[in-house]
Amino acid sequence: MKFIINGGKKIGGEIRVSGAKNLALKAIAASLLSKQEMILNNVPDIEDIKQIIEILKDLGAEIVKNNNSQYKISTKNINKTELNISLAHKLRASIVLVGPMLARFGEVRLPYPGGCVIGRRPIDIFIDGFKALGVEVEESKSGYYFKTQKLKGVKFIFPIVSVTATETLMMAATLAKGKTILINTACEPEILALADYLNSCGAKISGAGTHTIIIEGVNKLSATIFDIIPDRIEAGTFAVLAAATKSDLIIKNCNPANLEVPLLMLKKAGVNFLTGNDNIHMLPSKKIKAINIVTHEYPGLVTDLQAPFTVLLTQAQGMSLVHETIYEGRLFYIDKLNKMGANIILCDPHRIIINGPTKLFGHKIESPDIRAGIALVIASLIAEEKTEIDNIYQVDRGYERIEERLRGIGADIKRID
Ligand code: EPU
Repeated sequence: MKFIINGGKKIGGEIRVSGAKNLALKAIAASLLSKQEMILNNVPDIEDIKQIIEILKDLGAEIVKNNNSQYKISTKNINKTELNISLAHKLRASIVLVGPMLARFGEVRLPYPGGCVIGRRPIDIFIDGFKALGVEVEESKSGYYFKTQKLKGVKFIFPIVSVTATETLMMAATLAKGKTILINTACEPEILALADYLNSCGAKISGAGTHTIIIEGVNKLSATIFDIIPDRIEAGTFAVLAAATKSDLIIKNCNPANLEVPLLMLKKAGVNFLTGNDNIHMLPSKKIKAINIVTHEYPGLVTDLQAPFTVLLTQAQGMSLVHETIYEGRLFYIDKLNKMGANIILCDPHRIIINGPTKLFGHKIESPDIRAGIALVIASLIAEEKTEIDNIYQVDRGYERIEERLRGIGADIKRID
């Protein structure tokens, strides 16, 4: 499937942010920790969620989708401990299922996880963490087999900060025997929200959202109803889109407090906006200034907004440096922006220099991954003439009905087979 976008149209009005993909995936995985029914509200209707739901259904979970965004999940009749190869391979986040599966069933088989083409993405920290919790790990040609008699509380130090490894070990430790202390944990808002969700089911987690998390193991978790927080990446993406298209746009249902550094960088680039408790009002930008950005773990500038910021900086006056510190394969989409008329130099796998401003022109391009994909959509909205973006499955992995929602704010975008 492709997007056909005619750029240069006036963008404006209001757009609502969906639930956070990178919380919903983990909250769905966490429903494996209890035999009772979990109700999740505000789950985004995106491809990555459909994948994890399919994986759970394949294991024997009963899942009902009640309206566009509510899921009722019961895992009481799960009868398998082997994740489906082709489904798990499509979703890198399938690794997060291992923590709850081990906590509940004591064993799980995981095929090699797939996912975005944004870097090496090893799973060594997960493996070391599971071993520390008392898990035996066997690796074979087809993947991993994890087995434990009973998870045991432990002090585990993360060598580097990892979001999903923090979440996976935190979930596993909720049902472990005794106390687990996780040190050098990631502190993304989604981790705090995941801990709130687990605590609402009876877990005893403290310190989530900081670099030390303490979990007192409990025997079981009970039913709960939980609302997924708004997606800060989607909100930040819309903010950059408004800045790049010089639009007056109100971004509703978001939490600006989770976007402090991205908003600061927009301000440094000369973009004006007003923030409320749950909204950001982007004011039409005039002249965009060159800035240097460095991606960093939360609360720093999130790597998932790096590509949208790069597109914005093609419109900035002067030379900008973008330093991607998290992944070594997340800058190659710049070839596509250069085809569209940008002037970006790849210095090394982690650094690019953008010379701006340059006019962008429509082209036939392909979306390499979720975040580069949405960045190319933004580039197409400011480009002259028509752009065709192929492989938009990647965009659908992270953004719900994006063409409909962008049409709602004035974009000329359609989806074709
Ligand atoms: N790392 C290791 N070993 C491990 C795990 C991670 O070396 O065992 C390295 C990674 O290779 C990377 C660094 O640690 O260089 C940090 O990666 P992290 O583990 O924090 O990333 P992740 O948990 O795999 C999540 C999000 C990503 C987001 C990053 C950073 C999910 C499902 N994914 O990935 O989101 O970019 O945190 O914030 O939560 C996306 O949504 O498009 C996306 C890729």
